[in-house]
Amino acid sequence: MSFKDKEKWDTKYDGDSYITGKEPCEWLKSHAEFLIKGGKALDIAAGEGRNSVFAASLGYEVVSMDISEIALKKAQRLANEKNVTITTLSTDLDNSSLPENEYDLVLCFNFLERKLFQEIRKTLKSGGILFYETFSVDYLKYSSFKKEWVLEHNELLKAFNDLRILRYQEVDEEPKAFASLIAQKL
Ligand SMILES: C[S@@+](CC[C@H](N)C(=O)[O-])C[C@H]1O[C@@H](n2cnc3c(N)ncnc32)[C@H](O)[C@@H]1O
Repeated sequence: MSFKDKEKWDTKYDGDSYITGKEPCEWLKSHAEFLIKGGKALDIAAGEGRNSVFAASLGYEVVSMDISEIALKKAQRLANEKNVTITTLSTDLDNSSLPENEYDLVLCFNFLERKLFQEIRKTLKSGGILFYETFSVDYLKYSSFKKEWVLEHNELLKAFNDLRILRYQEVDEEPKAFASLIAQKL
């Protein structure tokens, strides 16, 4: 990630309104039955914190990482508004390693950095749950996204095939196209 990219995200997030909203992603909210254990959670590329705050409201001790400090400030503001606590960490996830066996829950929504797949497997504790959802190759029909920013068909299934797959879907409904996974480290 170049300084220019960080600037791009800071500019997008600049302003009082929440560009991605304050409610958690539907895939997370509608599968809250997998979020009953509590413990430590990591929200990768957490943005303005909608998913971090939801996990915190369910009792998780959440660490929210993102490259945009403006986004993380808004995440903290949202946490205050909802009376929950999160820890924000300004991090360039293109060049980061994650601690081994650290998290009971990892969330990654709308972000793709393939080098992190191995780090995610590493940082999950045994029994830990991964929620991953991001744009798929079908999204190229509806956007000017680059190919390297989107998942191939079945890519999440292959990337996490050593985890137990609990739920998986690929959605292609114009103007949206994405893949979603819930998996558990064995
Ligand atoms: C589309 S937003 C998704 C935010 C959040 N996960 C959500 O769904 O609301 C992508 C996020 O990735 C962050 N990001 C982009 N490149 C990054 C990097 N190299 N390291 C950490 N975060 C990065 C951006 O700042 C942005 O918040």
